[in-house]
Amino acid sequence: MLPVKISDDFFWVGSVNFDCVDFHGYSRSPRGTTHNAYVLKDKKNVLFDTVKQEHMPDMVHYLKNTINPEDIDYFVIHHTELDHSGGLEEMLRLCRPEKVFCSPMGYKSLEKHFDVSGWPLQAVKTGESINCGKNTIRFIEAPMLHWPDSMVSHIPEKKLLISNDIFGQNYATMERFADQVSPEIWEHTLREYYHNIILPYSGQVLKFLDAIRAPGMDIAMIAPDHGLVMRGEHAPRVLDLYRQYAEQKPKRRGLVVYDTMWHSTEKMAACIAAGLCESGVPSRIMPVKNFHPSLIMTELSQCGILAVGSPTHNNTVLQAVAGLLTYIKGLRPKNRLGAAFGSFGWSGEGAKDIVAWLESMKFEQPVPAVSCQYRPSADILEQCRGMGQALGRRLDEVLAGSD
Ligand code: FEO
Repeated sequence: MLPVKISDDFFWVGSVNFDCVDFHGYSRSPRGTTHNAYVLKDKKNVLFDTVKQEHMPDMVHYLKNTINPEDIDYFVIHHTELDHSGGLEEMLRLCRPEKVFCSPMGYKSLEKHFDVSGWPLQAVKTGESINCGKNTIRFIEAPMLHWPDSMVSHIPEKKLLISNDIFGQNYATMERFADQVSPEIWEHTLREYYHNIILPYSGQVLKFLDAIRAPGMDIAMIAPDHGLVMRGEHAPRVLDLYRQYAEQKPKRRGLVVYDTMWHSTEKMAACIAAGLCESGVPSRIMPVKNFHPSLIMTELSQCGILAVGSPTHNNTVLQAVAGLLTYIKGLRPKNRLGAAFGSFGWSGEGAKDIVAWLESMKFEQPVPAVSCQYRPSADILEQCRGMGQALGRRLDEVLAGSD
């Protein structure tokens, strides 16, 4: 097999994982993912990152097709999460590099993950650089994108940013460049990845985007550690998309999620969605039993309204709704309108608990919760329809004010 060339003297040596649909144990990756590592060939040869331990046979195969491993002089470890550092011990034995560069926080994290005695570790801070011959590697710390240790590398001579988790996509393909695949699917996987992994750190994203606009930071190609490399118009496009994602401006769509026992809350959900539709706001209904929370979160990324319904069960919401709200709250979405609804038999805490969840996420709730005992009457269903209409009207006011 030929080496996988990304640009002159820069090669992909990672692993494509079509069957990885459970990403890190908390998010779905329906299109699989890739674990990317790269090699720069120069006077000093450099390996950037490794892959998950179980995918090391792939990485070693691609590496040996590209370079004699013993000719690698430097490692750059951008991030210590095990999908990038899992193969590090094996790769150190294989290559015996002169230096392993990481961020100061990466140094501390590696010490907690491995026995690093004897490793040629060297911590590097933002602004430090190393000369490799024709190319220079500049290091930029990127704390919390995705862990405190995260950093990226910029090679000015190649106008190349090696971005680790940032700008990643969970998308397994035989292609290596974003411009070789469907633009719609690529953008969906970028948005899905951001909103399930990076979203809580949107403040840091905005600072990072400003930092990489500094003088001398020309970027014509972005090589992340998951998914496809962005070049041509995709490089500025991904920077624009990340700014949009991080700003979290409200979107003119609604999302109604619910769980149900005897279909009462389900009927209420349908009427809320009908009211949204009547107000001109496109909406989607997602029963939480049918969709993993990460798929619901990806949908919410395009919605300015979240209506949540659950029957009362054992004095609170059904567990799938509690799990979903826990997941969404942890991702810290902002600038949404919220609404609560649900049926109950005798105690009725379900909708009240949802109100409290939405308050804790600082979602404006312009309409009081709608609850009904046992089965929704025509009057209750009309209230639900009115809830949808009122949410739609309020969203239009918010959007008009944010123009
Ligand atoms: Fe792809 Fe935070 O690891």
